[in-house]
Amino acid sequence: MSKRALITGVTGQDGSYLAEHLIGLGYEVWGLSRGQANPRKDRIAQLIPGLRFVDGDLMDQGSLVSAVDAVQPDEVYNLGAISFVPMSWQQAELVTEVNGTGVLRVLEAIRLVSGLNKPSAGGDTSGQIRFYQASSSEMFGKVVEAPQSESTSFHPRSPYGVAKAYGHYITLNYRESYGMYGVSGILFNHESPRRGAEFVTRKISLAVAQIKLGLQDRLSLGNLDAVRDWGFAGDYVRAMHLMLQQDSPGDYVVGTGRMHSVRDAARIAFECVGLDWEEHVVVDPGLVRPAEVETLCADSSNARQELGWEPEVDFAELMRMMVESDLNQAQLVRDYGAMLSGARW
Ligand code: NAP
Ligand code: GDD
Repeated sequence: MSKRALITGVTGQDGSYLAEHLIGLGYEVWGLSRGQANPRKDRIAQLIPGLRFVDGDLMDQGSLVSAVDAVQPDEVYNLGAISFVPMSWQQAELVTEVNGTGVLRVLEAIRLVSGLNKPSAGGDTSGQIRFYQASSSEMFGKVVEAPQSESTSFHPRSPYGVAKAYGHYITLNYRESYGMYGVSGILFNHESPRRGAEFVTRKISLAVAQIKLGLQDRLSLGNLDAVRDWGFAGDYVRAMHLMLQQDSPGDYVVGTGRMHSVRDAARIAFECVGLDWEEHVVVDPGLVRPAEVETLCADSSNARQELGWEPEVDFAELMRMMVESDLNQAQLVRDYGAMLSGARW
């Protein structure tokens, strides 16, 4: 019989790639969808035929119990979150509720539905619902060492990072308190053509496409010196799945181990279309964050050795993939607009 997975955050970047990956592996995949009419649900339903939906919200404990009870999953992937870091200064309490307490609510839903009250003798986790938590390199924040591994201490720099640290530790605590098969993937930044337009790589690729077509001239960015370890989302969802296939639960750092600055990202993206980034990028001090994470770099030796995981797409390929996708889209929109304006009604 095929395994069944429940994904929170299925309408997001990672949720879409994970759903495709699991369906490709023969899973029956359910996505948690929130709101009475979520347009992102309609889009993902079109993109991924075969994906099923169950209603629920990370803010609502009862809805999560009902969803887990209805689906009876073998694996739960908690990817739902308010994931844009700057929003966590503007709506700190909401972000804490969704990204922090929301994790507790999913764990409680699993515990209640499976009647888990204490660790079983010998730590046997067979037959349990397995839980994946989307932890983040943002927890390392003001880094105490480089590169960062599973043993590096956290020093989060945003309410987002603090909430993620809570989610991380409550997952560990349910493992220790109830013997639950719960793991956290500490994932470094990962991007794709499906990345939200608010994140810096996609903001750049979208602007490059517009500038190339003469529809825009300037791109405003904040801190050009910030350094990230950027990978491809399609590679990272494979690691999430692998983490839940191990004999015993453990947490893993996932990243490429390669560092690039925001300046590099802009330069590479503009080069993809034969333009000089310095002629178009302007710095807007208003985009600089109250407390910045200056540099992140993953030591994912454990994921590589124990999970057999390797990233397949490098940073230059990733930026090219994003620029080409946005350029194709922008050309279609432009041509469609030209067709409409030339049409006789
Ligand atoms: P994303 O594209 O922003 O997607 C976020 C998802 O969370 C959306 O499906 C959204 O659903 C859902 N969501 C928001 N509030 C919710 C609520 N109250 N209840 C249920 N669902 C809710 O994020 P992503 O890039 O795919 O990231 C996935 C997860 O990995 C997040 O937890 C993020 O914090 C974490 N992470 C991401 C990265 C990265 O670089 N991408 C790195 C480390 C960790 P709606 O459509 O309903 O809004
Ligand atoms: N978004 C954005 N927009 N970032 C900018 C800009 C800009 O105009 N200019 C410079 N940056 C810098 C930010 O200050 C930050 O240092 C870096 O670019 C990356 O910003 P984002 O792409 O917004 O991602 P993030 O690193 O803050 O957070 C992402 O990665 C985390 C993992 O480390 C998100 O996906 C989080 O959800 C995730 O946990």
